[in-house]
Amino acid sequence: MLTNKTVVLGITGSIAAYKAAELASFLTKSGADVETVMTESAQKFILPLTLRSLTHRPVVCDMWSPPENFSITHVALAQAADVIVIAPATANIIAKMAYGLADDILSSIVLATKAPVIVASAMNNNMYENPATQENLARLKERGFLIVEPEIGHLACDAIGKGRLADINTIISAINMVLGRAGDMAGKKVVVTAGGTREPIDPVRFIGNRSSGKMGYALAEAARERGADVTLISAAQLSKPFGMSVIYVESASQMLDAVKQSVYNADALVMAAAVADFRSKITSENKIKKDSLVLNMELERTPDILSEVKGDFLRIGFAAETEHLLDNARKKLADKTLDLIVANDVTTQGSGFGTDTNKVTLISRGGKEIDLPLMAKRDVADRVWDWVVANIDIA
Ligand code: PMT
Repeated sequence: MLTNKTVVLGITGSIAAYKAAELASFLTKSGADVETVMTESAQKFILPLTLRSLTHRPVVCDMWSPPENFSITHVALAQAADVIVIAPATANIIAKMAYGLADDILSSIVLATKAPVIVASAMNNNMYENPATQENLARLKERGFLIVEPEIGHLACDAIGKGRLADINTIISAINMVLGRAGDMAGKKVVVTAGGTREPIDPVRFIGNRSSGKMGYALAEAARERGADVTLISAAQLSKPFGMSVIYVESASQMLDAVKQSVYNADALVMAAAVADFRSKITSENKIKKDSLVLNMELERTPDILSEVKGDFLRIGFAAETEHLLDNARKKLADKTLDLIVANDVTTQGSGFGTDTNKVTLISRGGKEIDLPLMAKRDVADRVWDWVVANIDIA
């Protein structure tokens, strides 16, 4: 995604400026050409030499020093950029951009560019909440700037509030999302489920399983970075991914409701969630006491989401199996009338629940089988979307 892309990284005067070094380093290692532009106050927090060393490129620090690479620096950088990311962005640069000011190199580049601009703000919480800043951010959003909101936490000024620069991974997700807007899934709407459902027994206990949600989140993120409009229905405890709608659920019946509500107009539904097959017939209002030596609990089937939700979209399931992998998966493909099933061998080391890698075989309705080696869940996700892109017309 980032290879050979020109990322103009604008750094402004916030204590969070040091975090821009990590961002610059990651982007450079990922193959991007990072052109750093630092405002005068940014240079009080972090040295241009740091960025120059990490990006292996000259750092642009003001409007008037002779350009090393670019003819008229602000115009050339504005044109060269595939994306401009300002991290951290102070209240001051946000106000300047909102009003179209161009009194320094960074604001001039922003005014002169047609590239997408990502603004990751960082400041004191009162400055952030000030109506002036909020109005300026709303104005930028309306104009198509992508705003990465700051996080709540302990701030350098010792206050606790909203103002910390977003996690670097969130900013990277925003960059990937912007660069992927014209990807091969642009204009497609997909719904992904992730995590293991929890079926309540009493207020403190539930029937659950070992799914972490990693496979489903990898699918959702990969689709977003290929340009899709993604709804993630999550029963997992992972942090909220950037740039998609997320519906949090706990039980199978909540997941069913969320899927039904989300699949309207969808091109594909991918169920990576491990949905509990059984739930307690009675849910106790109070914590069940351990007075007797044996507790008998009557179980009933949960709704089968994939079997209940049908429509004009590709329906893709996962099958986590410990034996007879392919036979069991083929049976589920047929029973649930799916377009594709991802047979998941959870006995292979590094595959299945909680791992970062997975070993799967893709089995399609027509009987074609693609056996994939153990690979990162993110790569498995891309192989599933490759199949979707190639088969979108069969839905
Ligand atoms: O979350 P991770 O830790 O990354 O782990 C990923 C995973 C192992 C959970 C995932 O890759 C996976 O294999 N998920 C499917 C788990 C499973 O065994 O599902 P199943 O065989 O019970 O169901 C088959 C399909 O029907 C699944 O797509 C499931 O979401 C769906 N289903 C199941 C039960 C039910 N009541 N309704 C359903 O729709």
